[in-house]
Amino acid sequence: MMDPIALAHPAMLAVDLAVAQAWWSLTVPPLKVLRTLGIGRAKLPKADLTGKVCIVTGANRGVGARTALHLAEMGATIVLACRRGQANAAKTGIIEELRAKKVEVDLNNIKPMELDLLSMQSVRDFADAFKRDFKRLDILVNNAGVSEPGVTSEGYSITFTTNHIGHYLLTDLLYPETDNARIVNVASVFHQYGDPDKWEEAATGRRGDTGPFDVLTHVYADSKLANLMHALDLRRRFTADRCNAVAFAVHPGNCRTDLWRYVPNNLHNAFDKFMRIFFLSPELGCYTSVSAAVAPLDRLREPDGNLARFLQPYWCPVPYVKDRAAHQIGPFAGCQVIGPFAGCQVGTASLPNDVDGALDTLRRVSEQLVADISKKQETHTQADPAAVKAIHPVAATEYPSLAPRDVPIRF
Ligand SMILES: NC(=O)c1ccc[n+]([C@@H]2O[C@H](COP(=O)([O-])OP(=O)(O)OC[C@H]3O[C@@H](n4cnc5c(N)ncnc54)[C@H](OP(=O)(O)O)[C@@H]3O)[C@@H](O)[C@H]2O)c1
Repeated sequence: MMDPIALAHPAMLAVDLAVAQAWWSLTVPPLKVLRTLGIGRAKLPKADLTGKVCIVTGANRGVGARTALHLAEMGATIVLACRRGQANAAKTGIIEELRAKKVEVDLNNIKPMELDLLSMQSVRDFADAFKRDFKRLDILVNNAGVSEPGVTSEGYSITFTTNHIGHYLLTDLLYPETDNARIVNVASVFHQYGDPDKWEEAATGRRGDTGPFDVLTHVYADSKLANLMHALDLRRRFTADRCNAVAFAVHPGNCRTDLWRYVPNNLHNAFDKFMRIFFLSPELGCYTSVSAAVAPLDRLREPDGNLARFLQPYWCPVPYVKDRAAHQIGPFAGCQVIGPFAGCQVGTASLPNDVDGALDTLRRVSEQLVADISKKQETHTQADPAAVKAIHPVAATEYPSLAPRDVPIRF
């Protein structure tokens, strides 16, 4: 098992951040200047996606909106899977941008659909509607995500349910449609702080996310490790089923998006300034998702020829460290987040020592959670029909210094 001291030690994160910060300060601002001048821009891969059907979850803003735009630009039929009636606005935004760029594609191929990953019924309704309306699925980008403290009214972590459980059920329901498909799980470099032994605790709000920053290194990290392991579990399933689909986990980079809305209000201004200098734009952040979705597979391989398990935007300045426990300790624990950003690179997945055991745990825990959450939500809505509209609105714990959860910050 992993070294618990290495996992929990706050010094580990502090050292990571200090090393990453020093490196970024030296490399990222000069690169930003060069790229503003048009020098050394990373190139998005291009493909003809005419006739292909893609889904992007959380396509109404941030990295998901940019991913959906580029897939639409390549001629795909693109399903914008968004919650709270925002899919139509997402469609309008994409159409405006395509028109402004004078890209000629069939705008009827941009399809808004409702999907709330916190509601298992919404996920099931989405999958049923998708299978009814489309006969194939070529690209599924499991992008939507939050890093939010608190639990739903049924007692499940908002972050873990949105980031992993909802996507797990969605992918499972669409699985029969996925022969030859590519599935892209938008994970994070924070997966390296996740702990497979804590998935159940994370899902049920017992992981100790007492404040917004704890969420990142606890439940968010656990959910992002689950995203990564889910991609590996899908590969295992594809192989067993002799299916040609492939699955990737990607890190978009640290991007200036609403993901960071739960930074306490009094730090927003300072944090926003910090992000303007050091973080990527959502446009640069979508490069790894788009590359995983459309780049030729030969470009997405590890040096040993195997398909990359984890893609990231950064150049890695030190050799691969394959051992997770070793990777967690020492000043280069965070090496994979540092370095100039340059589109899409093969990154180092920080895997649990017992990968097969963790994959089995993930499947067991995920299936149990899908069943438990579905049952609770059903009882909840039967007891209170009004809850159908707002199945998950209240975080049990209040964080008064945080931005109101329903008001987008739009960094
Ligand atoms: N930004 C970063 O630095 C960073 C770093 C590593 C990984 N990531 C990952 O990148 C992905 C995209 O995040 P982002 O940075 O683009 O954040 P963002 O701008 O906040 O976008 C998140 C998207 O997820 C959607 N979403 C949230 N909860 C949902 C739910 N219950 N059902 C359906 N959709 C839901 C949001 O919709 P609403 O508008 O309705 O809230 C929004 O469209 C996430 O998986 C995140 O973990 C981001």
